[in-house]
Amino acid sequence: MDTRGRVIIQVNDLHHTYLSGTPLEVKALKGVTMEVYEGEIVGIIGRTGAGKSTIVQHFNGLIRNRERGRVVVDGHDMADPSLDVRTIRQKVGLVFQHPEQQLFERLVGDDIAFGPKKMGLPPEVRRERVRWAMEMVGLDFEKFKDRFTFSLSGGEMRKVAIAGVLALQPKVLILDESTTGIDPRGRKELLSRMLNLNREHGVTLVFVSSNMDEVASIADRIYVIDDGRTVMHGTAREIFAQPEVLRRYGLGVPHVTTVAHRLAQDGIPMPRVPLTVAEAEEDIWKILSS
Ligand SMILES: Nc1ncnc2c1ncn2[C@@H]1O[C@H](COP(=O)(O)OP(=O)(O)OP(=O)(O)O)[C@@H](O)[C@H]1O
Ligand SMILES: [Mg+2]
Repeated sequence: MDTRGRVIIQVNDLHHTYLSGTPLEVKALKGVTMEVYEGEIVGIIGRTGAGKSTIVQHFNGLIRNRERGRVVVDGHDMADPSLDVRTIRQKVGLVFQHPEQQLFERLVGDDIAFGPKKMGLPPEVRRERVRWAMEMVGLDFEKFKDRFTFSLSGGEMRKVAIAGVLALQPKVLILDESTTGIDPRGRKELLSRMLNLNREHGVTLVFVSSNMDEVASIADRIYVIDDGRTVMHGTAREIFAQPEVLRRYGLGVPHVTTVAHRLAQDGIPMPRVPLTVAEAEEDIWKILSS
């Protein structure tokens, strides 16, 4: 689907080095170029250590680019020293790969209310924000608001971390491996809620995932990162039509897509590269009835 509005995140030839000038120096990014249009869902994939988390931390100013390259978010050059990152953080919410690094209040309700409080919203509005955000991630407000954050399961912590970011009602939501540790049903539910957030509320979604089935089912476009560089980009169908290239980057394709590629090798090509079980089912019916 092409619902491209204006570019909200623009990254050009981004470089980033950790521990620069020390013996432990790591050149994590060596030329990342990508763009995110308002209202779309962009997936970022790549093998472990490719640089995905480093990229997304540039999007809300957690890492400021001081080397080669440029990051422009909602019209703001992120390298501009006079830029107040707080204004960016209200627009661009980032859910960390490790949610426990994001929770710091004792009680769940307080943790989720932290952002809205900082924004100076009055208590009633805050409470409504918290309730709404918890609902969005499937956490019961009454049941969870007074729970201790440290007593939560890994999956619940993740949901609280996402709710805390959602409570700011960002225009762009960035999820870094955010469904990891949640059971399959909870994952599916969370994904469909995120999809709803995108479709109904126009929230732009950028998500890093190593689950190809998940990426295929929701991403409009995909960027493949390898060794700190952008190596492929295209629609989900374009990307998953190239299993051999993806293999070179240590990646696979969704299960249903593998079935289609194997059928094609056996001389039964499918009309398109299926991305979901529903698409595959539809296409197999077409083949069977023709
Ligand atoms: N704080 C840090 N200090 C030093 N090196 C780091 C730091 N964070 C990441 N790196 C290194 O930078 C490179 C890119 O890391 P990054 O976390 O961005 O990868 P990733 O694609 O998110 O990996 P994963 O899929 O495992 O989450 C890796 O070599 C990593 O070891
Ligand atoms: Mg990562």
